Amino acid sequence: MLLRIVQELLPGDLQMNIVSFADLPVYNGDYDLPIANERPATVTKFREELAQVDGLIIVSPEYSYSIPGGLKNAIDWASRGDDAPLLNKPVSIMGATMGVWGTVRMHIAFNPIFEIMNMRPVYRPEIMIAKAHEKFDKNGKFMDEYAKKLIRQNLDNLKELITLYQK
Ligand SMILES: Cc1cc2nc3c(=O)[nH]c(=O)nc-3n(C[C@H](O)[C@H](O)[C@H](O)COP(=O)(O)O)c2cc1C
Repeated sequence: MLLRIVQELLPGDLQMNIVSFADLPVYNGDYDLPIANERPATVTKFREELAQVDGLIIVSPEYSYSIPGGLKNAIDWASRGDDAPLLNKPVSIMGATMGVWGTVRMHIAFNPIFEIMNMRPVYRPEIMIAKAHEKFDKNGKFMDEYAKKLIRQNLDNLKELITLYQK
């Protein structure tokens, strides 16, 4: 639902594609280059989709005080090789949880990934939606106007980074 709000608040001159990682196998170096001749087809498609974009918006819950396993697995597949599609990319990270800490530990867990991939994160404003079940009404309408303002600001900052780092 947060992803849908992000889509609504996207600046007019940014276009967003939703990239799914649901079909990726569990990372195994035996299936990755250079040990394998080619990567699994779903991985190649995923990496190509990421390679085409100028920046990333990662929207996630927090699982077990960290990055959900499926998302981390996708990150691992996108992080290997000189052509790793995460390398140098501007990125926004946004979280929503029913808990009170707003995915802060998931955010923190991303910092080392941003470092090793030399990514350009939007650090401010932080988008951490706590008590998410109280912020959306039954029709999925987001009722936290202040958070909306922060999301707009975060996306504007992402746009600036994209302009700055665009090849
Ligand atoms: C395996 C699992 C681990 C969770 N761990 C956390 C956690 O560490 N911190 C937190 O705030 N919420 C945690 N939650 C609650 C989720 O934030 C909440 O269920 C969220 O709405 C799940 O979103 P999803 O349905 O899109 O996965 C956890 C939920 C699951 C299923």
